[in-house]
Amino acid sequence: MAEPGQIPNPWPEMTDIATLEQETLRQIAEAADEAALEAVRLAALGKKGAISALLATLGKMSPEERKTEGARINLLKDKATEALAARRAELAKEALERRLAAETLDVTLPTATSPLTRGRIHPISQVMEELSVIFADMGFAVAEGPDIESDDFNFTKLNFPEGHPAREMQDTFFLTPEAGEKKLLRTHTSPVQVRTMIAQKPPIRVICPGRVYRCDFDQTHTPMFHQVEGLVIDETTHMGHLKWVLEEFLKNFFEVKGVRLRMRPSFFPFTEPSMEVDVQCRRQGGEIRFGEGEDWMEILGCGMVHPNVLRNCGIDPDVHQGFAFGVGIDRLAMLKYGMSDLRAFFDADTRWLEHYGFRPLDFPTLAGGLSA
Ligand code: PHE
Repeated sequence: MAEPGQIPNPWPEMTDIATLEQETLRQIAEAADEAALEAVRLAALGKKGAISALLATLGKMSPEERKTEGARINLLKDKATEALAARRAELAKEALERRLAAETLDVTLPTATSPLTRGRIHPISQVMEELSVIFADMGFAVAEGPDIESDDFNFTKLNFPEGHPAREMQDTFFLTPEAGEKKLLRTHTSPVQVRTMIAQKPPIRVICPGRVYRCDFDQTHTPMFHQVEGLVIDETTHMGHLKWVLEEFLKNFFEVKGVRLRMRPSFFPFTEPSMEVDVQCRRQGGEIRFGEGEDWMEILGCGMVHPNVLRNCGIDPDVHQGFAFGVGIDRLAMLKYGMSDLRAFFDADTRWLEHYGFRPLDFPTLAGGLSA
């Protein structure tokens, strides 16, 4: 409507339509999201929208007027519809781009750690596994026995005389006798020799890894520790074989090209002759290297199985013979992996285990490397 005093607009409808068009297209262009755009659409083209209202006026027009006005209003409607569609497409594209930017996935990032990658194998378990691999390669099977053992299997059948001080030598944990039978926590893995010889006919070739118990506690002794026993019984096995087996074992275990061994006479009731074995090493600045140097380190006990032991287990010593050896597994682990305090093995401290432990899926193999 023209104000009084103003020059009347010669095309009032034109101005309305032009303003409406300008206004509608501006609002469409400025709509920041789908919801705002929908509000603009409703205000223009909805049932009560401005353009719809204009269209409704057509009915009251003369056919002449309707022809020209109708064309202009419909043109406006088409323009608005087109602009809406274009803006909607634009908004959809922007939204997609935002989503793609927000949801990008860097496939080169390391995967999240699972319990399998965080968990660790205890060095003792690792060393037992390494020993099994080394001896399996030489044809040894693994035999096991109970931790609670009879006095008979731990001592008597192994040729410890009744009341002999050697029984006390091992700081035994004796248990309360059960039905008259003396029980104890086995002090060594040698009773598994006895169990194997009673259960199996020669030829026998086994290793027996397991827990053993002695009343002792300091930096290098814990009341529970681990040993592995080796036993070979047939008709011809002699000390030369024993020396070769020990050399192969130590060479493979310490992952060196070769080791020299020194055998010193010793005493065990269950072997005759008995020996202590020293392995060649180099001690340098608190570090120990095996397979080189001029130093020696005592590492294990061994010998030819005593005829009395064979007889006690139902094997004829005039036909069969063989050797046995026993090694401390914890000590082997300390020497190979450089731990200085045995007590930490049994503290169950996860920080220690994270440092000294092994990844669960890195199985030791002779071909792939034992400690790789
Ligand atoms: N059982 C002995 C010990 O614990 C070790 C050993 C085993 C020695 C077999 C000789 C033969 O000390």
